[in-house]
Amino acid sequence: MPDGINIDYDGLIPNNVDLAGDARVRKALETWHPGYIDWWKDMGPEGFQESLVYLRTAIGVDPKGWAKFDYVKMPDYKWGILLAPKVEGRTIPFGKHKGEPAWQEVPGEYRAMLRRLITVQGDTEPASVEQQRHLGATAPSLYDLRNLFQVNVEEGRHLWAMVYLLHKYFGNDGREEAEELLARRSGHQDTPRMLGAFNEATPDWLSFFMFTFFTDRDGKMQLEALAQSGFDPLSRTCRFMLTEEAHHMFVGDSGVQRVVERTVEAMRDADITDPHDIAAIRALGVIDLPTIQKKINLHFSLTLDLFGNEISTNAANAFNAGIKGRYREDKLEDDHALLDATYPVLRHVNGQFVTEEVPALSALNLRLRNDYVQDCISGVTRWNRVIEKAGIGFKLALPHVAFNRAIGEFAGIHTDIDGNILDEAVWQAARDGMLPNDDDAAYITSLMVPVTENGKFAGWIAPPKMGIDNKPGDFEYVQIVA
Ligand SMILES: [Fe+2]
Ligand SMILES: [Fe+2]
Repeated sequence: MPDGINIDYDGLIPNNVDLAGDARVRKALETWHPGYIDWWKDMGPEGFQESLVYLRTAIGVDPKGWAKFDYVKMPDYKWGILLAPKVEGRTIPFGKHKGEPAWQEVPGEYRAMLRRLITVQGDTEPASVEQQRHLGATAPSLYDLRNLFQVNVEEGRHLWAMVYLLHKYFGNDGREEAEELLARRSGHQDTPRMLGAFNEATPDWLSFFMFTFFTDRDGKMQLEALAQSGFDPLSRTCRFMLTEEAHHMFVGDSGVQRVVERTVEAMRDADITDPHDIAAIRALGVIDLPTIQKKINLHFSLTLDLFGNEISTNAANAFNAGIKGRYREDKLEDDHALLDATYPVLRHVNGQFVTEEVPALSALNLRLRNDYVQDCISGVTRWNRVIEKAGIGFKLALPHVAFNRAIGEFAGIHTDIDGNILDEAVWQAARDGMLPNDDDAAYITSLMVPVTENGKFAGWIAPPKMGIDNKPGDFEYVQIVA
């Protein structure tokens, strides 16, 4: 077996980084551990800490068959430190150090930059657990409840992944950052999480599916960019996290699809062909397509803000330094230095949208965002196929990138979902038609009634095509203990 494929489950902290042979870091993590468990009990899934959940746990980091499924109480989940296997002879794939051996230690000159990137990534992980902690009470099925908890425990593990890097490579500063990761709280007035979208509420299950589709996909893009890093421990950490992230996006993608399926099925059964006959559709107890579109508008726009400013010196510096690459950098065919290249950026200048060629190095946030948008489109296309098959004249779409933005080129303007610029008064009047309003929220909330019988599903969502781990439809994914 290559180095690091097997996981040591003997100690307090499962790992494949030989913690047993690293007394300093093991001690640091064992000291951090009780605070983590306290955080999990305080801020993790509310009301299900004693329940047995059918969860997958990593037993190796080999992409083929790394997981094993079993009933686990969430506080006993084997959170651990898992890195993808080391690639011998790996070199820095981009930037001014391209071709030099990948760093196994933090290069002094990039220490602050790396610490910041790792801390920001780390902060998003517990944030989403906090955002989702009330959802267990209204799960549409045991299958969905299990999926929620799987996402939650893995986000917890992602926090461990980042905390390991902080403790191992950043000394006292790293320890302080690790403490603060447990102290901030999503949406808290005084100690919020670091990024905007991670301070928003996730009030209902449609929001959860949208979040895992859109916002976990931002996570995927950030991890893909960091997986290219010349700092090898970060690269290896992110590569393994990506294998877990795929499930989170599956939950979102298939979750939204099942909502759409159920809606069009109910419409067909009731002979409703007008997707805008919202009152009639809601009377069926399903979520009308225009409201699903509004949720897309909200979650897509909030998530685009996570990519930061379109034109960014920080992004240029991180690339140049060999710290943060592009999406699938290793598959791209150019000089991987970008010193002479340019990239088109949509900007807002004097009341108009203009496309300007800017130095490609400064436009890397936008480039990653563009790759993200492409990735989102494939999901929306699948959802539309369901609607089309049902013969309903409605198409879901991503809103214009300038819509509802708080960061970057479009932060100071309002547009409609097609990108037409609106003045303040028109925006205020049109807003309720483009983003979920109080009525929409109240209606969706009214549907959020828990279903806890094996194999049963709430009326607003279709059952999945297949169970988890090839289990039958009436499998008891969660054994609830009140
Ligand atoms: Fe994560
Ligand atoms: Fe995730």
